Amino acid sequence: MIDRIDQGPFFSVEALKEDDIELLDATLRWWMSEEGRVKEEEVRETKERMRTSISDIHDDVYIVARDRTGGPPAGVMGCGCLDTRFYPYRSSTGAKAAGLLTAFIAPDYRGRGLGKVLIIEVFHKAGASGCREVIWSSNPRYRETAWEFYTAMAGEPIGTIDGFFFTGSLSPVWRKSL
Ligand SMILES: CC(C)(COP(=O)(O)OP(=O)(O)OC[C@H]1O[C@@H](n2cnc3c(N)ncnc32)[C@H](O)[C@@H]1OP(=O)(O)O)[C@@H](O)C(=O)NCCC(=O)NCCS
Repeated sequence: MIDRIDQGPFFSVEALKEDDIELLDATLRWWMSEEGRVKEEEVRETKERMRTSISDIHDDVYIVARDRTGGPPAGVMGCGCLDTRFYPYRSSTGAKAAGLLTAFIAPDYRGRGLGKVLIIEVFHKAGASGCREVIWSSNPRYRETAWEFYTAMAGEPIGTIDGFFFTGSLSPVWRKSL
């Protein structure tokens, strides 16, 4: 299946491939760390979820921004089944909604519009699969690196969620109507 949209001369956005998963390792490890320590379990689980999305019949879809000159993907995002803990945040009971998965741009590529391109494509894919909205939160560790981006992409958070990431965590919930 051809799954590509062109992003000018430098980048393409494509479905994640098996080879991309290890190529994304450095980006995952860079962002999934706290106080200099990589959250190994999170990295492992994320890669496993990516692998499953490719190998099985699965609702998860991951896309990557690929630098046409080669090298590892410059960024990755995905969407999949909505975690049941977000059900109360749907616009109406029974509204079909997707969750946003891993959203990481490699440090050198941040701020060039790739995140916007990827999230718009994720919204498009979720809409094409019959969802009316995408709902997500973000670990407090990404407060400075992502929360304003999400608000720019989806508007002010519709609420907060307690304890989603760890005991006592409080994080915004964004909802994007499609
Ligand atoms: C969050 C992230 C995915 C955004 O991707 P990006 O490529 O850097 O963002 P873009 O360049 O596409 O920015 C899109 C818009 O959001 C705005 N924006 C992005 N990051 C912002 C920030 N930290 N503060 C304020 N605005 C921001 C941009 O100004 C831009 O606005 P415009 O459309 O008016 O030009 C990326 O920066 C990233 O990987 N961050 C670190 C990891 C992380 O925190 N991931 C989220 C995990 S939940």
